Amino acid sequence: MQRLGILGLGEGRSTMSAALQSKKWELKKICDVKAELCHQRAKEFDFHQYTNSYQELLDDPEIDVIAIYTPDHLHAEHVKLALQHGKHVVCTKPFIDDLSKAAELLRLSEQTGKKVFIGQSSRFFEPAKRQRADFEAGIIGDLITIEAYYHADHRWFLEKGWALQESFKWLYGGLSHPADFIRWYLPNIEEVMGYGMISSNGKNAGLKNEDTMHFIFKATDGRIARVSGAYTGPTQPAARDSGMSTILRCTEGASQADYHELRYSVTTNTGEEKIIHWGDAYLKHYFRFEGQSHHAGEYQNYLEYFADSIEQGFTAYPDIKEGIGTVALLQAMDKSLSTGMPVKIVDVLKEHGLEELIYSNERSLAGVNER
Ligand SMILES: NC(=O)c1ccc[n+]([C@@H]2O[C@H](COP(=O)([O-])OP(=O)(O)OC[C@H]3O[C@@H](n4cnc5c(N)ncnc54)[C@H](O)[C@@H]3O)[C@@H](O)[C@H]2O)c1
Repeated sequence: MQRLGILGLGEGRSTMSAALQSKKWELKKICDVKAELCHQRAKEFDFHQYTNSYQELLDDPEIDVIAIYTPDHLHAEHVKLALQHGKHVVCTKPFIDDLSKAAELLRLSEQTGKKVFIGQSSRFFEPAKRQRADFEAGIIGDLITIEAYYHADHRWFLEKGWALQESFKWLYGGLSHPADFIRWYLPNIEEVMGYGMISSNGKNAGLKNEDTMHFIFKATDGRIARVSGAYTGPTQPAARDSGMSTILRCTEGASQADYHELRYSVTTNTGEEKIIHWGDAYLKHYFRFEGQSHHAGEYQNYLEYFADSIEQGFTAYPDIKEGIGTVALLQAMDKSLSTGMPVKIVDVLKEHGLEELIYSNERSLAGVNER
């Protein structure tokens, strides 16, 4: 059993629920600088081991793993401190929001032998798991192209103070999900090009960076992909469309995984067409509090996978290198928005001395993912 400390109790609430319901984890302590939020979570889960000081989690010898859910711009520092104190790390997405600290974190993780796993939650959702399993089983053949999008009415999110700061970008906060899906199937992206804008809703709310974006990608082997995101307006009825979706168009079939709806459709290599919906037991596992804006079931799935990786000595993906590769892609996307030009990922990696470290990893991930 792995012993867990959780830092940041907004989204960390889902991780509390996940750890408390899992046989593979023992929740040891939770932490947030906001005392009132600690009280609230303690009461909600009847779990009373909390602190307002991160140092207390770091110094606790009974904690093996720290799970980090602080605002994006604080992740690098919080991951660094956890590694320096000999803890394994789960860090929510986006792993970091700037590559300048990536080499240091990678070095620290290698020096300490501690694992860093990126909580890329949407990979661990039922339709995404099924889509991946079908793809790996060869049911739809080899990938021709992939499209992924995340369109959500996140106007409520703008009430969080840090959402209106210069440092907050939907590019990292939201598009990290569909961009990760692209890399899951097509890790060796070579170049990206995109346009973005702040919608009138975003402008009125005081948002500083783009909330509406469209990108296209080219991989080293010539395959292409696209991603889009829109975050401050209403969405289609769920019966017709999904807020987050991934479409694989392959040589012998095609598939689409829809997130919040727990829906998956596939045309297989025999021409069979299937649409799968998961029922109440799955809804209960994935969505445990009000609404569907949280991901407790996905978190339990990924925490258990990470616990297995520590106990059985395998690498849980996305690991730190894959996480840095995704941040490099996001940074290239960001640069394309600001320059209006196509951007090569290798140039972004070079700026931070990461070319060899990450590019060789991309090649080996491409080997793993290619059928
Ligand atoms: N699907 C997902 O994986 C998913 C979903 C939502 C949010 N997230 C990620 O979770 C992170 C947090 O997002 P959120 O929506 O919960 O934000 P939030 O603002 O609600 O919560 C962040 C919490 O961190 C606390 N905090 C900040 N600095 C701290 C410190 N030094 N020590 C202790 N506590 C500290 C804040 O007080 C706050 O309560 C973000 O990186 C976000 O991208 C991931």
